[in-house]
Amino acid sequence: DLGPYRYYMQKEIFEQPRAVADTLQGIDSIMPELFGDTAWRVFNAVDSVLLLACGGSFHAALTAKYWIESIARLPVQVEIASEFRYRDAVLSENTLVVAVSQSGETADVLGAVEVAKQMGMAKTLAICNVATSALVRECALHFITRAGIEIGVASTKAFTTQLVALFLLTLSLAQVRGKLTDEEEKEHLRALRHLPDAMSKVLALEPSIIAWSEVLTRKENILFVGRGMHYPVALEGALKMKEISYIHAEAYAAGELKHGPLALVSAEMPVVAVAPNDRLLEKLRSNMHEVNARGGKLFVFADVDCGLSPAPGIEVIRLVEHYGPLSPILHTLPMQLLAYHAALARGTDIDKPRNLAKSVTVE
Ligand code: M6R
Repeated sequence: DLGPYRYYMQKEIFEQPRAVADTLQGIDSIMPELFGDTAWRVFNAVDSVLLLACGGSFHAALTAKYWIESIARLPVQVEIASEFRYRDAVLSENTLVVAVSQSGETADVLGAVEVAKQMGMAKTLAICNVATSALVRECALHFITRAGIEIGVASTKAFTTQLVALFLLTLSLAQVRGKLTDEEEKEHLRALRHLPDAMSKVLALEPSIIAWSEVLTRKENILFVGRGMHYPVALEGALKMKEISYIHAEAYAAGELKHGPLALVSAEMPVVAVAPNDRLLEKLRSNMHEVNARGGKLFVFADVDCGLSPAPGIEVIRLVEHYGPLSPILHTLPMQLLAYHAALARGTDIDKPRNLAKSVTVE
């Protein structure tokens, strides 16, 4: 039932505060057992993490690399499942293999987990939205996100709940490794519980995002840029834009612009920047200046306290608060809305974009 919404994707975007709250329901403290009865023993024995996923889930996994490395201080590799399964990877048997998948039926993810097991990596964990899926059966440990059934081909609520699950994993690994104080645990839990509220405030920015989408929908190419843990948010923004609006979109880590893509920038090439108020903001600001100086039009998603103001060629939408390590979750929402409204203006079949399937069960 679509209720007041036109498309399932739109409904699912606005369900995200509920989906995140449900995923966090009953979690009063951080503990490895959130991932299974034997998780403490497994987490205690691992010396590295390998994340395997495809598409949007791969972007969630990439975000987790930044979290796990900085908070749990474990080395992390993130691999596109279809690449990993045919690569002669060299990995320790004490690697925690984390497969991230909404459906739990993606053929390449299942294949990659099988390969990892054949290589002797028995410590497997599924982060999945479907409890009865093949992936959950294949992995020793699991965490089920509670996004609810996702119908739109473009993943939205599954993506943000994957991020929540991956953040809980980060904190649990940190705790087992003695890297999480009680104070830090409380602070992270407080931030997680406040997320649904903060997300609702970001979703309320929809009217300003619609105004931007009206400009962007007329373009044939868009660049998305971000830095640090918001680089995967830029990748996710470009993927959403491509898959439902059919506008060609590419994402770059902003520091890479001058190594090639800056050559594409002109008045016809809009650049969407994910610019939260973190320690990389100054670096990003100089990357944005390079775009502005070449006549590129910037559309900047900033935070309330960022000090970035609109200027000729620079449009700014400010999110309501800066959200620390969980900021990628908030900054994903405008990416989804921007793609949705650009697609709506183009009249595409948003829930069933051409050539795509919800669940890719063949190679
Ligand atoms: O079910 P999965 O999470 O394994 O699916 C992976 C990708 O096929 C999926 O994320 C795809 O990229 C979405 N259409 C992205 O919106």
